[in-house]
Amino acid sequence: MSALLSVENLSVSYRIPGGRLRALRDVTLSVRRGEVLGIVGESGCGKSTLAAAMIGLLPQGATVEGGAIRLEGEDMRHLSPDRQRGIRGRSVAMVFQDPMTAFNPVLTIGRQVADFTGAHGQRLPQAEIAAMLERVGIPDPARCLGRYPHELSGGMRQRVAIAAALLMRPDVLIADEPTTALDVTMEAQIIHLLRALRADFDGAIVIVTHHLGVIAELCDRVAVMYAGEVVEEAAVDDLFHDPRHPYSRALLACDPAVVIPGTGHLPTIGGRVPDLSVLPAGCAFAARCPLADALCRTSPPRVAGQGRSVLCHRAATQVAP
Ligand SMILES: Nc1ncnc2c1ncn2[C@@H]1O[C@H](COP(=O)(O)OP(=O)(O)O)[C@@H](O)[C@H]1O
Ligand code: SF4
Ligand SMILES: [Mg+2]
Repeated sequence: MSALLSVENLSVSYRIPGGRLRALRDVTLSVRRGEVLGIVGESGCGKSTLAAAMIGLLPQGATVEGGAIRLEGEDMRHLSPDRQRGIRGRSVAMVFQDPMTAFNPVLTIGRQVADFTGAHGQRLPQAEIAAMLERVGIPDPARCLGRYPHELSGGMRQRVAIAAALLMRPDVLIADEPTTALDVTMEAQIIHLLRALRADFDGAIVIVTHHLGVIAELCDRVAVMYAGEVVEEAAVDDLFHDPRHPYSRALLACDPAVVIPGTGHLPTIGGRVPDLSVLPAGCAFAARCPLADALCRTSPPRVAGQGRSVLCHRAATQVAP
């Protein structure tokens, strides 16, 4: 089946004092209808920039240096601003890490969700909103509509944000770290909810996370990002059973959530993500990679592999470190 949303050779940089920071380099990825794609990697690897680019909402100071973002084959950057606004929310909806920042503290939940859907062209009746709140597991939805954001727990606010996004009937739902701000119990509940919604949502879902446990629980396919590049893309089972990129291996080795989902542990790998404004000449992972050699330090690797792609000089030959 053809891609619903795709990015092709996408490069994005931010203007920073004295130069530019290359947040995405030559990223190619796609998601099909009915599929859940995970994007995983440490903080600062470009996940949120990619999610924002996919929805056409890059922040001020960001420049698309090259590549395309396509929704059902149509390049979003060549659409009129009106059509772009229509697509945001209606065709592609986004759920953010901290739902509090998405809400206005002085307006009721019912008013805000109605305004939000109204801004996308269809002001929905409160009964329809209440029905969606019920579907995402909010007890007593009618009462919830009359409450203010601070009166709800973080988990309940995230449920409301998910309901608001689904009310747009999007083709693609993008969730950027939807469980990161929640405690372990709430996180498990939101994962459970997203898994249940999957069954009767016929679009595509993109989940951004630094937590491999979330990927294992929810996704079909996964893209591992490092320093602004996709370093490995694979079916989730393949990645967990046979990670090929040294960074994927390092992430898996450090994340206890692979064994016990929902523990909330962050991966820790020796060293840190390089400064994306002064990238090394060769492979961006070389300074942390146990397999790095002279070639790795001088020449950037190209994507290799069939069926799954691995951005590593040793993709075809490596043995376990
Ligand atoms: N508005 C911005 N201006 C300048 N640099 C930014 C901005 N947003 C993100 N960055 C930088 O871009 C890189 C990628 O960030 P981000 O996409 O947020 O990664 P992630 O979501 O994986 O943590 C980081 O180095 C970050 O500091
Ligand atoms: S290209 Fe070299 S340094 Fe980079 S991940 Fe592969 S083996 Fe490690
Ligand atoms: Mg982020």
